[in-house]
Amino acid sequence: MAVKLKSRDEIRVMREAGQIVGQTLERIREMVRPGVNLLEIESFVRDEFARRGAKETFRNYSPGPKYPPYPSNICISINDQLVHGIPRDRTLREGDIASFDLGATYKGYVGDAAITVGVGEISDDAKKLLQVTEDSLWAGIRAARSGRHLNDICGAIEDAIKPSGFSIVKGYGGHGVGRDMHEEPHVQNHRMRFRGTPLNPGLVLALEPMVNIGAPEVYEESDHWTVRTKDGSLCCHFEHTIAIRDGEEAEVLTLP
Ligand code: MF3
Ligand code: CO
Repeated sequence: MAVKLKSRDEIRVMREAGQIVGQTLERIREMVRPGVNLLEIESFVRDEFARRGAKETFRNYSPGPKYPPYPSNICISINDQLVHGIPRDRTLREGDIASFDLGATYKGYVGDAAITVGVGEISDDAKKLLQVTEDSLWAGIRAARSGRHLNDICGAIEDAIKPSGFSIVKGYGGHGVGRDMHEEPHVQNHRMRFRGTPLNPGLVLALEPMVNIGAPEVYEESDHWTVRTKDGSLCCHFEHTIAIRDGEEAEVLTLP
């Protein structure tokens, strides 16, 4: 499968999809406090999608026969859960860190973004983890300029995480995005051995660094979705959908 560059008209629609995702995540950030049930957040997302004319993207998604269809519209992953946590009847507690990963389809195009948020007062280690991971996303975004190559993004993300001593999770990463949530290319959060896809105007990518405070190993829970750290350490995930532009920094389509 080849990389699909988007026209200006397609990017205009992807900006709308991105805004639905980015603005809904901002509302969720405001909802976060001890005692909020994860199912309230899922139902808020459903209401927002209905109100704004967005179609479900994550629900019923299945990357292959091993995976049962994903049952919700948002992934909520708490503390040692890295990504793809399924919202269930559970409340957020003071000191938790929770990642919210949201995808929406609007007029046929997908927006995909994620934030990690502290619940009430969180530890200094957790604060640093959130800061390092979000900073690494922005380092990747700043490196995403036409004329460069994919590996410049991967290297920038890696270099932003390295000095912290935290671990970069391997085997998961970002991706091209368009009519499909997952398009070419795959975007690692660490350097590759080759330059990779040229960053041409119209290339739309979801960048999503994933960082563990402890060891880099993760595993999939028996629900086949939830990804957790093996050592039980805290982990973090931020994501934006960006569009490469001619001669200037990438546009962050999911920035509210
Ligand atoms: N942002 C995630 C990804 O790119 C969300 C997918 S969750 C799924 O993989 F349930 F839809 F798979
Ligand atoms: Co994604």
